[in-house]
This record gives sequence, C-alpha cells and structure tokens, in this order.
Amino acid sequence: MGDRMSRIAIPGLVDILPIDDAATIAVIAADRRFDREYVRRGPMLNRIVLGRVRSILTLAGAPLPPVAEHGPVRPAPSQSATQARLDALAAGGLAGPDIDVLAAYVRGEGGATQGGKLAQQAVGRLFDPYYSADDESWSAALVLRDAPSSFNPLKRLIWALTGRIAKARELLAGKVNQDPTGLHGTGVAIHNLAEAFARMRTLYADPAARGQSSPAAAVAAAMVAPKQVLRQPTVAGTSPAGPFTENTLVLLQLEKANARTPGYDMAFMAGSWSACPAQGWVPALLATVWRDAIGGSAQ
Ligand code: HEM
Repeated sequence: MGDRMSRIAIPGLVDILPIDDAATIAVIAADRRFDREYVRRGPMLNRIVLGRVRSILTLAGAPLPPVAEHGPVRPAPSQSATQARLDALAAGGLAGPDIDVLAAYVRGEGGATQGGKLAQQAVGRLFDPYYSADDESWSAALVLRDAPSSFNPLKRLIWALTGRIAKARELLAGKVNQDPTGLHGTGVAIHNLAEAFARMRTLYADPAARGQSSPAAAVAAAMVAPKQVLRQPTVAGTSPAGPFTENTLVLLQLEKANARTPGYDMAFMAGSWSACPAQGWVPALLATVWRDAIGGSAQ
C-alpha cells in the first residue's frame, strides 16, 4: 500500500482517488462511507463522469444494478435470485451449441472479432432462450462500452443528435425482455467476457501454453476484471488510501489489482455487498469452453 496510489485533486477541474491495491480495495469496498449514489457534484470532470454514468447506464429511469446505490434502489433480493439461478445452471453442467461455437472460436476458427457476438448470445440466452446476437446487437454493445468514456466532442455531439445511445440501449433491452440485469450483462459486462475469450484464443494458439493449461489455469489467465468501478463518499474522511471529501470520486482499479494478484475474486468483487451475481457462472462458462476447445471432458 502507500506509494502506488495518490489522489489527484485540481480545484475546479478534477478530484479522484485511484486505488489499485487489492487489500485497500477490499477495505474500501467494505466501508459503507463509499457508495454508488453518484450525485452529480464536485469539480467539472467529476460532474461529467457522474452525469454520464447516470444518463447512460439506466433503464426505464432506474440505474442499472451495478451502478445503483446500496439501499432500496438496488434490487438486492433479485441479485441473490440471479446468482442462485446462475449458480444452479453452472452446477448442472454447461453444454450445448453456444459452448461449441465459443470453443471453435477459441480454437481459432472464424474472425478474431467474432467472439464478442458469440459471448453476447451465450449471456443473452440466460434471459431469453431464443436470444440471437447479430452485428446490430454487438454494435449496440460497443456503443454502451464507449459512451461513458468518450471525450471526443464531435463523436459525442453526433451520438446525442442521433439518439445513438438511447437506441442502443433500447435494442439490447428489447432482446432481454427489459431485464436490467440482462441489459447490463449483454451490453456492458459482455466486454469483459469477450476479452476473456479473446485471451483464451491467444493462449490456445500457443501450443506450449495450451498443453500446460488446466481449465483452472486457463480461466485465471483469461479473466479480465472491469478496469475500474466507482465509489462516491457520502462524507469526508480519511482511509488507508488517504483523505477524501464528498467531492472525491474513488476509482477502484480492479483490473490492475487483478493482474497483480493471481486468482479472480477481485474481478467480481467477491465477498463484497456488490459482488457480481455471475461470479460462479462466468468462470464455469470459461472453463467449460476451454475443456471443449482442447477436446477433452475429463479434466
Ligand atoms: C467477465 C465478466 C464479468 C465481470 C468481470 C463482472 C464483474 C462485476 C463487478 C466487479 C461488479 C461489482 C461492481 C461494483 O461494485 O461497482 C459486478 C456487478 C454486477 N454484475 Fe457482473 N461481471 C461480469 C459479468 C456479468 C454478467 C454476465 C452479468 C449478468 C448476467 C453480470 C451482472 C452483474 C450485476 C447485476 C451486478 C450488480 C451487483 C450488485 O451491485 O448488487 N455480470 N460485476
């Protein structure tokens, strides 16, 4: 801890506290002074980021579950129901055509950029058994991926004028029967899964690495955590990462911490109040696809 993290505070412009140390992230994640209320306050860049999260990651006026504050807004019971459902699917053994096409992708078949669409279909089918991902649905997911972080003013203007973000969200939500978790899974979280399959494809392409990788090792090597998740302090105070005010935006840099610390609990914030309900299903899917790709089922 200590020297890797430092707050960047420039009056009127920005006030952020990036944290990329696994132990400190765990402490902050458990500290209820840090929440996801995302009130649009603080210096300019903070307000821009907070405004975008609140305007983009919503459905029918409500924040998507991963950006909802702790409390009545966040559908905690539905989160545990989702996790129970996904865990049961994983425990039952994943199989079927969606697994086979993903395994073929890992083996190097088809174009390198096709993995996203295949992953999107596998997640979409958790919400609609007939979900069919296509170029349009994948482009919509790319819009949701790029929208919160685009600082290209012309691009943003064009997107605003054409309602591109709203259209992308509408299209993806329509395919999952307006389920907010389904929209998040197929539009936002899907990029981590797509990247994980791309990494597996690279791993598979190297015969030495392929031969040495047990499913568990392949999953650990492929797992990609979200680059960062945001926390907004509800009060000013001090923390193991240093002092902060209500206007500080705390960036939990999960991917940096994950890359440094083997294992993938960090990637899903496992054990925290906001833990990902797909934390069992995603690694099970990746492991099943890897086994299928290398052509054995006994490992
Ligand atoms: C590689 C894939 C994935 C990774 C790395 C991942 C990671 C995460 C992380 C770190 C959080 C916590 C966010 C925070 O505390 O601010 C989260 C929350 C969440 N994730 Fe995932 N996720 C993945 C895939 C999915 C999928 C496929 C779904 C849906 C099927 C999903 C549904 C959710 C939901 C609903 C939450 C909100 C939990 C809550 O706050 O109550 N995730 N995810």
